[in-house]
Amino acid sequence: MEGSFGIRIDRGARLSLSAQIADGIRAAIRDGRLAPGARLPSWNDLAAQLGVARGTVRMAYEELADGQFVMPSGAAGTRVTGRMPTMRPEPEPIRTRAAFGGFPIGSSTALPFQVGVPAADLFPAALWTRLLGQAARDTAATQTDYPDSRGEPGLRAEIAGYLAVARGVACHPSQVFVTHGYAAALNVILRVLRVQGADALFEEPGYPFARTALGWAGVRAVPVPVDADGLDIAAGGALAPHAAIALVTPGQQAPTGAPMSLERRLALIEWAHAGERWIIEDDYLGELQLTRRAAPALASMDSQRVIHIGTFSKTIAPGLRMGYLVAPPTLVAALQEVTGTLAPAPPPVMQHTVAGFIRQGHYLRHLRRMKRAYASRRDAIGAALSRVGLDWEEGGLALCIALPAGTNDVALSRAAHAAELAPVPLSPWFAGPATRAGLLLGVTNVPEARADALVERLAAVIRGATG
Ligand SMILES: Cc1ncc(COP(=O)(O)O)c(C=O)c1O
Repeated sequence: MEGSFGIRIDRGARLSLSAQIADGIRAAIRDGRLAPGARLPSWNDLAAQLGVARGTVRMAYEELADGQFVMPSGAAGTRVTGRMPTMRPEPEPIRTRAAFGGFPIGSSTALPFQVGVPAADLFPAALWTRLLGQAARDTAATQTDYPDSRGEPGLRAEIAGYLAVARGVACHPSQVFVTHGYAAALNVILRVLRVQGADALFEEPGYPFARTALGWAGVRAVPVPVDADGLDIAAGGALAPHAAIALVTPGQQAPTGAPMSLERRLALIEWAHAGERWIIEDDYLGELQLTRRAAPALASMDSQRVIHIGTFSKTIAPGLRMGYLVAPPTLVAALQEVTGTLAPAPPPVMQHTVAGFIRQGHYLRHLRRMKRAYASRRDAIGAALSRVGLDWEEGGLALCIALPAGTNDVALSRAAHAAELAPVPLSPWFAGPATRAGLLLGVTNVPEARADALVERLAAVIRGATG
């Protein structure tokens, strides 16, 4: 039955009657139907109205008083507390990411051309659900223990094994820390290295969020030009002779996609050893290299000065919020301290799921399948772009439409967003004046059959905006 303030009483429900009454009154307070200072009916009155015992209402009022929603005021009855904020549901503002020029991101379903998300249609959902169920059963009994903040031993061993096979990195599981993705790994490393006040060599153009993160850690990101061989370390040495770290994407430079050449890799490692500097390797795409065999990780060439970060955001799903870092042995103790104090690994149930996914061979199979599909999608989009007369270049899992320098690519991205397409502007990847303008189109979630239609829609937006 329904009574005062819309309280619903369901005698068949598992929730006790007093809890149902308390819930109903709380809801009325939250949405403003019961204003601060309002007097609640007496126990007797409400009990009679709802057809319940007086003691039931009394228990409900006591529960509300414990939660400071109401205050017993003697003869004046029970009143709604004055300072209770009313929580009217308000629509949340659209999320924007300042680093990309503040255009909207993060729609609940990825829009076509969104960069950095794996293909939704290739995700092995049924298999994943099965592994997750198994992991839930495996970890249920140990939920009440504090887990190892470095990560579950089984997953750390799987990651070490995978890195040896796929990225050429020889490491012991004790050097592997499981993190909440690249973002969390970078945060932890910047604390461990104690580089506040130092300079860092940073790719120009480079990943805007990492540049912002360096700034927050008190590190000055010095833009160092990137060419077809990756970051120009000789230029970097001249621009910032006292730099303490370099943050690079040697596998496939973000956003150009260029793998760092062997010569540059050797020069970078030499630079690090010469000054006891650190190299942070962002291996965000791992072996997801479409055009040729993936170049090995930089950490495969040096285990002393390179800190390797990987993420499952591109290779499994960003919703996992999981990645890892591999530290040189000299940093392991400090990392244990910092992760244990500030950044423990993600929930064991998710780690066990990922460990099962790798151990049973699904991970490598999934990567192979994604590579094939993405290469074919990229070819279809490239052909469609050429048909409508737009110039493009490859870049990792994206294609970049080159626009005349000075084009307002941020405004163009916003216009595309209004047409339900999500290309990313190129200019915010530059810290200094953008020498190039363009739109990055993610190729992962545009199936071949839709490429022509979506590219035509995008071309119409570009024509509309640039005349
Ligand atoms: C250059 C670069 N590094 C790292 C990441 C991944 O970050 P996370 O693991 O925090 O999702 C991305 C994702 O877009 C990226 O573009």
